[in-house]
Amino acid sequence: MKEPLGVIGAGWVGLVTAACFADFGHEVVVRDVVPQRIEELEAGRVPIFEPGLSELLAANRDRIHYTLEMADVFERARIAFVSVPTPPTHSGDADLSAVWRVLDELPELDERTIIVMKSTVPVGTGEKVRHELDARGLAHVGYVSNPEFLAESTALWDFKHPDRIVVGAFDRADGDTVATLYEPIETPVVRADVASAEMVKLASNAFLATKISFINEIANVCEETGADVSLVAEGMGLDRRIGSLFLRPGIGYSGSCLPKDVTALKQLAGNSGYHFQLLTAVIEVNELQKRRVVGKLMKHLGPLRGKTVALLGLAFKPNTNDMRDAPSLILAPRLLAEGAVVRGWDPVALEEAQQALRGVELKETLLDALKDADAAVIVTEWDELAGLLAPELRAAMRTPLLVDGRNLLDPDAARAAGYVYESIGRAAHDLDSLPETEEPETKLRR
Ligand SMILES: NC(=O)c1ccc[n+]([C@@H]2O[C@H](COP(=O)([O-])OP(=O)(O)OC[C@H]3O[C@@H](n4cnc5c(N)ncnc54)[C@H](O)[C@@H]3O)[C@@H](O)[C@H]2O)c1
Repeated sequence: MKEPLGVIGAGWVGLVTAACFADFGHEVVVRDVVPQRIEELEAGRVPIFEPGLSELLAANRDRIHYTLEMADVFERARIAFVSVPTPPTHSGDADLSAVWRVLDELPELDERTIIVMKSTVPVGTGEKVRHELDARGLAHVGYVSNPEFLAESTALWDFKHPDRIVVGAFDRADGDTVATLYEPIETPVVRADVASAEMVKLASNAFLATKISFINEIANVCEETGADVSLVAEGMGLDRRIGSLFLRPGIGYSGSCLPKDVTALKQLAGNSGYHFQLLTAVIEVNELQKRRVVGKLMKHLGPLRGKTVALLGLAFKPNTNDMRDAPSLILAPRLLAEGAVVRGWDPVALEEAQQALRGVELKETLLDALKDADAAVIVTEWDELAGLLAPELRAAMRTPLLVDGRNLLDPDAARAAGYVYESIGRAAHDLDSLPETEEPETKLRR
């Protein structure tokens, strides 16, 4: 009989954790504070878009229970994973109010119980929680830091095939108990103290963000010097000391984790009296990278007032409907501020975009988004956007200016399809370079 488990917070991390542990044979009680979320889950509807998740939850339905009550979790389970949000505050520090609320809501616990922190928290959080538990006479409640490294859109695979599992504990036996839960997964387990485990997560995300900002700066220099960043990244990435992952130039890192975790680490360092200069630059490069798209549009169109620009892909990455810190949230207001008419298209995030992107005309099809548009920007690399090469889509535009913020398309193919094509760190084309037969109706500004 496998150990019953609790999961507190039914979002991306919580639901994936619940589905995977249920699939390993555990009974799992999932608690959330949003009644509608729990109702939907009970009815078999998954409130987030994550490939394979609804199927895995359905397949293990008999072992998963949903509840609004914290007491239900600890009635059945002695180990509870905490996967509540830790969003950024205006100061850039992580907002830990949901974590503290979990502690406040803990019921009477007589038996040995372990709280396992999967939420990403600042270094030192575990120490503070330990202190609070002890002060409340809950010394028999253990605390383990077990940061999560999954990425949305590949979350189930990532959970079951992680590069490593990190377990940081105050008490070795608690760490052993948590490490044992992961026995079905073959991967190195890094055992650490709590502070080091917390830092592994923040430092890993900060390093990934640094890689992205680095290759984006190389891309920008390539644009000035005539080098092609795709070839540069390929040549660099084959060096095993560098590696090819996260070496793809684009419009910057985004999403619910990297931006907030990088800023939180910078602030954490600052709060501790250390000025983390490198991260300051990484963040600034990332902010500017999104805005460079607007410069590329203006280079061809001149002032954008009255020009129609279609933003293609509104979620922060393909195969998710997560809009948190998506580049579209920066690009749309920037373009609206220039007086452009902004349209948006996304295959799964239109509902979320309705609330997040005020003033943007949302379109259900690519054709509707492109009709009579002066420019289109690939913001998220959805597979569907390979279809932009179809003649009817290119022909629907008033001027065929395509800014590929993800280097999704092959420049020669885009040009052959009749686009004036701009990407990141690769040679741009102007109107004169279009094949004669593809001369667009309306001239772009040279
Ligand atoms: N999303 C990711 O890709 C990812 C990856 C690794 C780590 N993380 C980290 O994991 C944590 C959770 O992220 P997420 O993306 O799953 O968040 P999310 O916003 O998708 O889900 C969090 C859930 O917790 C619920 N909640 C809030 N307070 C609660 C409480 N007191 N009790 C029970 N439920 C509560 C919310 O209603 C929500 O359903 C964050 O710290 C995040 O940084 C996220």
